[in-house]
Amino acid sequence: MDLHDFKDVAENYDRYLDVMYKDHDKHAGFQAFYLDLARKYGTGGVVDIACGTGAVLLYLAEHGIDVDGTDLSEEMCRVAQNKAEQRGLKLRIVPADMTKFHTDRKYSLAIIARSGFMHLPSSQLQRNALLNIRNQLTDGGILTFNTFDPNPELQAAMMKTDPEDYSFRLEYVNSNGQREKIYNAISYNPFSQLMSGNWKFETLDEAGNVIGERVRPLLMRQTYRSEVFLLAELCGFQVLDIYRGYLGDKEDLSDPNDGVNHTGNLIWIMQKK
Ligand SMILES: C[S@@+](CC[C@H](N)C(=O)[O-])C[C@H]1O[C@@H](n2cnc3c(N)ncnc32)[C@H](O)[C@@H]1O
Repeated sequence: MDLHDFKDVAENYDRYLDVMYKDHDKHAGFQAFYLDLARKYGTGGVVDIACGTGAVLLYLAEHGIDVDGTDLSEEMCRVAQNKAEQRGLKLRIVPADMTKFHTDRKYSLAIIARSGFMHLPSSQLQRNALLNIRNQLTDGGILTFNTFDPNPELQAAMMKTDPEDYSFRLEYVNSNGQREKIYNAISYNPFSQLMSGNWKFETLDEAGNVIGERVRPLLMRQTYRSEVFLLAELCGFQVLDIYRGYLGDKEDLSDPNDGVNHTGNLIWIMQKK
């Protein structure tokens, strides 16, 4: 089981993400970014893969896009489905692994937003996911997912983190109305490119005393940009664009040196060949 498979994580996900991304200028506009992509490429239907609690899925549906959702975690799907029903939206949201899922329809756009792709822990699984998604796309269909280009300084610092070396991330109010503090201890293995460790949720009483603790595991893989280009080629995709974040800043793909030293969020747009 990984972080998002837990019921308590799914139920609190929107709440702690709101705090995590509040005033985070690099995150601003992320839903509008995917809506623009859906309007440009999604006229033949959109699938939001690793849709989580539906941040992109519901936003697109509310803006009239024909969109389905899928996520490995049944708990995340359940939260997304409840939110859809509360908003009067009838959506198809199916629990499934992106390396294997299969639907009875094809899509002209497949979206994997906000690091869903980084949850695939090996290059074999990444390849399986790309090949599988390619099969769900119409001719010339588009796949988008993001990676964070590995930052050697951060990696070096994470290589020294031990499993109990927790850093405070944020405080939020959980779905029961209780204050919770989130800490994480994630270490990096440069051989496997895996970030692994735990998130710790501490529940507090009104006086700030810790009255409960839950520890949830997390495993993610860092992927270099050169690997993504090779994966795309191997799996029958052509990289059309790489956006640096959600505000429209694009790399110049004709310049081999553009982006080489960039270490932030890269959003890949690739087309089925
Ligand atoms: C960081 S969350 C992002 C969720 C959502 N896209 C968003 O923007 O809020 C990553 C999601 O990937 C899902 N996930 C992890 N591995 C997956 C897999 N193999 N297939 C499908 N979904 C997966 C998790 O269950 C989790 O909901």
